Amino acid sequence: MLPREVISTGALILRPPSREDLPAIVRATSDADTARFLYSLPLPYTIEDAESYLALAQRRWAEGGAEFTVADAGSGQYLGAVGLRPPDAHGALSIGYRVAEWARSKGVASAATRAVSEWAFDKGARRIELHAEVENLASLRVAYAAGYQQEGIARERTHTRDGRAADFVAFARLAGDPGEAAGQYLPFLDGGELSDGVVRLRPMAPGDAGDYRAMVGDPSVSRWMVGTAPTAEAAERRCRYTGYWWLSGQRAELSIRDAATDAFAGHIQLVQVMPAIGQAMVGYSLQADFRGRGFMTRAVRLLVDWAFTETALHRIVAGTDVANDASQHVLRRVGFSRESVQRELFPRPDGTRGDDVEWLLLRPGRS
Ligand SMILES: CC(C)(COP(=O)(O)OP(=O)(O)OC[C@H]1O[C@@H](n2cnc3c(N)ncnc32)[C@H](O)[C@@H]1OP(=O)(O)O)[C@@H](O)C(=O)NCCC(=O)NCCS
Repeated sequence: MLPREVISTGALILRPPSREDLPAIVRATSDADTARFLYSLPLPYTIEDAESYLALAQRRWAEGGAEFTVADAGSGQYLGAVGLRPPDAHGALSIGYRVAEWARSKGVASAATRAVSEWAFDKGARRIELHAEVENLASLRVAYAAGYQQEGIARERTHTRDGRAADFVAFARLAGDPGEAAGQYLPFLDGGELSDGVVRLRPMAPGDAGDYRAMVGDPSVSRWMVGTAPTAEAAERRCRYTGYWWLSGQRAELSIRDAATDAFAGHIQLVQVMPAIGQAMVGYSLQADFRGRGFMTRAVRLLVDWAFTETALHRIVAGTDVANDASQHVLRRVGFSRESVQRELFPRPDGTRGDDVEWLLLRPGRS
């Protein structure tokens, strides 16, 4: 059983919630992000709902969990809440948190989550689990900042308020983990996009799913791709993962847009990101009606320039089917050099296999 204690960490005090918190809890539970990501909370949220929350907090403590109000140590102002659900049959706890809109993006959730986790380990906890929806980037950042390690994806773990199945990233922290905050290998784009005035690259978003699917369904694109074209549902799901993939350093996925009209022109990605050796692979496709205007050369240049300026990548590689002259032309124009051939690497839609030509661009000035 966890003792009802007060935790002090930096500028925060964490204490069991009380009736004095009720008005602040109501105000703090009435914003768009809370409605979007905490689906089980009533909407609108009333003082009666806050009363029920206090009763839930009592039960949590009684059943071996914990529930804290996070307050400013100086002023006592209510800032949010961190809770530990009671242990499961194997003794694992799970943690959840929310911060009032007026206190966000100041490290409150990260510091409070770390403090409650370390306090629970001190009291004998063995494993604490944490789940954050793939699109909840603020919450994912809290998990990495509080020393949690990603263990996998819990697909369709729950349903959003509007009934859509949502995937969650499953994290946990063990008592023996070092608990270091994870850095971000692929930083987010300054200003949210890259542009040279003619093409614009912007992280893929759910609204791009239809354009993406139409493009990869075109035989002039699919003949160079491995695997079958995604269903509408798979294409949308893939677009919902962009922020999580980026934040976790797994891949960067961008739409290529005509800077003049903002029309979707294609897709470009950095995949197979391997921080240990500083290598990633670039891949791309352009819609047929945007070809022949140098768009892809510009897009690849923008992406590799960004990668060599903003990340620690040393090698960017690309693989093209030996028969894909247009793609090889793009790579040559950007400055990639031909490295090797991997025979019969690509399974083609017609059942034959294509040789793969491997291309390489090294970080400028360091080769
Ligand atoms: C998730 C939540 C608790 C974060 O609280 P917080 O105190 O603002 O969190 P922190 O400041 O410790 O860390 C959040 C990080 O995400 C960043 N962030 C915030 N919104 C973001 C967004 N939309 N995209 C990317 N990053 C974002 C912040 O800048 C901060 O990063 P930094 O420390 O590198 O600057 C808060 O947004 C919240 O209460 N949301 C609604 C409820 C919720 O989602 N709870 C979690 C359910 S799993």
